[in-house]
Amino acid sequence: MAFLEVKHIRKVYTGRLGSKETIALKNVNFSVNEGEFVSVMGESGSGKTTLLNLLSTLDKPTEGEITLAGTPLTAIKEKELSRFRREQLGFIFQDFNLLDNFSLKDNILLPLVLEQVPVKEMESRLKPLVERLGISQLINNYPYEVSGGQKQRAAVTRALITKPKLILADEPTGALDSKSSEVLMKLLADIHATKQTILMVTHSARAASYSNRVLFIRDGEVYHEIYRGDQTAEEFMNRISQALLFAFNRGEKNEI
Ligand SMILES: Nc1ncnc2c1ncn2[C@@H]1O[C@H](COP(=O)(O)OP(=O)(O)OP(=O)(O)O)[C@@H](O)[C@H]1O
Ligand SMILES: [Mg+2]
Repeated sequence: MAFLEVKHIRKVYTGRLGSKETIALKNVNFSVNEGEFVSVMGESGSGKTTLLNLLSTLDKPTEGEITLAGTPLTAIKEKELSRFRREQLGFIFQDFNLLDNFSLKDNILLPLVLEQVPVKEMESRLKPLVERLGISQLINNYPYEVSGGQKQRAAVTRALITKPKLILADEPTGALDSKSSEVLMKLLADIHATKQTILMVTHSARAASYSNRVLFIRDGEVYHEIYRGDQTAEEFMNRISQALLFAFNRGEKNEI
């Protein structure tokens, strides 16, 4: 069995009083092996965030089953969900989601504080990570005192500090300039090289080119996937761009 299995996922949002239905995901099937770095691409409204919300147990599918490391997500009891999220998953968001009144260090350690991890253990996990991510000189600063790229690196450190089974990232480079994006993607590639499993939603072919597989979703279904194989990031980026262009042209023709 694969590390992450997504089987026949359907997600229908029902409006208030059951008035209006939106089929956000129709029939999504894919699996991810341990240690893979997978990107998900698709136009606005194609269901990417919906999919991440289901994977992160923030929402439940209407039909279908998601299994992570042998655990069906629906089998987790409601009161155990937040602990499951904290211990097993790491999140990286477009807008960093750091608490303004906490220093970077306190932001990073927050998941461990919630788990009541001993202070000594916290410090020993923190040090190598902040060094690796290049923010060791900044950890006593507050989020408003550092750059967007540095904030995102603190957010990545926070995602890694619990040693999660799976990192989920929603547009992690979305709020960054091209240089900071590149630094971040190189970091994610390094993290992937340590066998960390990552699933990332992105609009950027360049960001996706750092992963080893790209899933394309449209109208709530995965309609295409490409593997990087032994191509360089540059070659892979060109293939991703072509796939996006092809899908876009097809969409245009369908509408005429
Ligand atoms: N809570 C909700 N209630 C009702 N409809 C929703 C809800 N969340 C999303 N939708 C609808 O579901 C569809 C998929 O939305 P989703 O947010 O997953 O798209 P997305 O691929 O993440 O888009 P973007 O690239 O703009 O972030 C859209 O038609 C959206 O309007
Ligand atoms: Mg979205």
